[in-house]
Amino acid sequence: MNRYGNGGISLFTCFLPKVEFGAGKVNHIADYVKGMGTKAVIAIDPYMHSIGLGDRIASQLKKVFIESVIFSDIEPNPSCFKVDEMAKRAKAEQCDFVIAIGGGSAIDFGKGLAVMVNGRGSSWDYTERNDHEVLRPGSDTLPLIAIPTTSGTGSESTPFSVLNNPALKEKSTIVNERIFPRIAIVDPELMISMPSKITASTGFDAFAHALESFISLKANPFTTMVSKEAMSIVVRNLPEAVANGGNVKARENLAWASTLAGAAIAHIGVTLPHSLAQPVGGMFGVPHGDSIAACMVNVLEVSWQSDLEKFAAISTIIDPSISSLTLRQRAEKCPELVSRLLSDINLHVKFSTFGMTENDIDKATSIALTGYYFDIECHPKKVTREEIRQIYKACL
Ligand SMILES: [Fe+2]
Repeated sequence: MNRYGNGGISLFTCFLPKVEFGAGKVNHIADYVKGMGTKAVIAIDPYMHSIGLGDRIASQLKKVFIESVIFSDIEPNPSCFKVDEMAKRAKAEQCDFVIAIGGGSAIDFGKGLAVMVNGRGSSWDYTERNDHEVLRPGSDTLPLIAIPTTSGTGSESTPFSVLNNPALKEKSTIVNERIFPRIAIVDPELMISMPSKITASTGFDAFAHALESFISLKANPFTTMVSKEAMSIVVRNLPEAVANGGNVKARENLAWASTLAGAAIAHIGVTLPHSLAQPVGGMFGVPHGDSIAACMVNVLEVSWQSDLEKFAAISTIIDPSISSLTLRQRAEKCPELVSRLLSDINLHVKFSTFGMTENDIDKATSIALTGYYFDIECHPKKVTREEIRQIYKACL
């Protein structure tokens, strides 16, 4: 009897973006963009622009009579105010669709542009928070093509745009189907040059998306299938990609896992590890995957008893040799096995590594409960404000 055997399958929706997957796919972008518009704003990671990718794509677009402007001044953890400023320029340029190229930051930036070219107020007003009235992207939101150059954020297959508000030192997320990419061009060749440290950080982010969507109280048969597959692929390929970045097969597999894990969180979001990591990321400008690595094991330690079946399944995916242990024994091993994965990819960090101290715990807790309450509610272990404080303390 499987997990759904007793109670049947509840109502749910499932979807994927149109994905053009494979080495060299980006060279065919002109075929994919036909009919999307006449002038593209290309939001591209500065490094990828410096090696000529932005100009290469612009010249391909020109062959099908599509003009473009390139914005490459995109920082990690993109600022909502920068999005607002660049959206005004894109509007003045009469851009009518967006091509976002890079890691999560560039794609999130591009999604912000898609909303704000015809939007009102600030992109921050569109983020999901319970301390302001949330504006919703209109039908005039620009269509978007996402081209990831890292494998981890899964932003190419999500309707999320994570933005940073430097005035508040907080990050929040626009969540809306209108920013779901029309097409995701996932070309593993673009990821070969990713340094080992970024491979580890972004790859662990993909693992976290898969794990968190798997344990989510909102998980459905589609996300469960996708999450398990993504976790399995990451565990089997990430250590190799970190050690040997030129391994094309490992890169391909991770690119697919990242897109899958993104599709899982696109449906149901994440849970407690992301909810605790994002505030620290905003406060200290930490790489996203590093901030999740800093709290994942501690969250698992307080959570595994909340759903023995699921945490046991995660342990068995990571280490199939433990399948003969009891359900409880396997579930209990989950934090240790994830910690071992972090060792294998040389990504053992604490929140104190980024400068966080006990004095910052109250602020981080408040941000988590304000900006990430909807993900906290989906975590299988219910946590109080005090329990969140205690987890932060343990992560220092
Ligand atoms: Fe993430």
